[in-house]
Amino acid sequence: MADKDGMKAAKDYHLDVPFSGGEIINNVRGIKGLDWGMQKRMSNIFNPKTGKTVMLAFDHGYFMGSTSGLERLDLLIPQLMGKVDVLMGTRGAFRTCVPSTANCGIALRVSSGSSVLDEDLSHEVVAVDIADAIRLDADAMAVQVFIGAEGEKESIDNLSRVINSGLRYGIPTLGVVAVGKQMERTPKYFKLATRMIAEQGAQIVKTYYCENMEEVVAACPVPIVIAGGKKVPELEALEMVYRGIQSGAAGVDMGRNVFQSENPAAMAEAVARIVHGGEDSKHAYEYYLDSTRAGK
Ligand code: R5P
Repeated sequence: MADKDGMKAAKDYHLDVPFSGGEIINNVRGIKGLDWGMQKRMSNIFNPKTGKTVMLAFDHGYFMGSTSGLERLDLLIPQLMGKVDVLMGTRGAFRTCVPSTANCGIALRVSSGSSVLDEDLSHEVVAVDIADAIRLDADAMAVQVFIGAEGEKESIDNLSRVINSGLRYGIPTLGVVAVGKQMERTPKYFKLATRMIAEQGAQIVKTYYCENMEEVVAACPVPIVIAGGKKVPELEALEMVYRGIQSGAAGVDMGRNVFQSENPAAMAEAVARIVHGGEDSKHAYEYYLDSTRAGK
């Protein structure tokens, strides 16, 4: 108990200063309607200065096994900590391979389903409960959503259940637009899928870059992060990041185009220069090349 002897009288009421309201972060779309704890977690994901994020997706093993570039997560992740804002992975990967000293946001993959051996990956379940997400100090829970696929309705059910528990405990949900072999990749499709996910209540949506991306972003009332997709040459990947940011995306959630790069650390930094630093893709690529030549 506080010592009552010698207590100083409270007198600094600053009567001439308007109440500040203690707002945490205001440059992230949709954040004003969220409770304090959820805003706080959103500010662990989106840099409060830029309102943007660089997320590293390394959750591929949940259906692909030991993906190229992710063979040794214990060696890769420490190289990239400090270069990205958020690590997006599975609970198995976090518990075994990610140092708990990682000073970045945590996006936890909570949906799971069949392996790549199955033709149809759209029948997922919610594999991680909210208690474990809390134990892992998750800042967001990621759920795959298969609009237009056989498992569409199940995936909306998964999404809704995760959003409901996330709202109960203040953890944002990241709805991930899935694209399968038979599924469309058109602006019309991405507009439909992103808007549906936001309207279900997800606080963040991950989708692929497409033509007319600015319309996809305009119609989505929560922040959109751009997925990386399959590995392409570094300059091409950086151009996509640049165009995505120019279209109003709130950042990226990239996997293979970072960890399958010849120099993942330099690639992560080049991406961050575009997302947070406002650089164009040409300058970011020059940075990538210079760092790689210098052996950084
Ligand atoms: C995608 O939907 C899954 O979350 C992936 O495992 C991952 O995020 C894909 O990342 P990328 O396409 O950039 O390799």
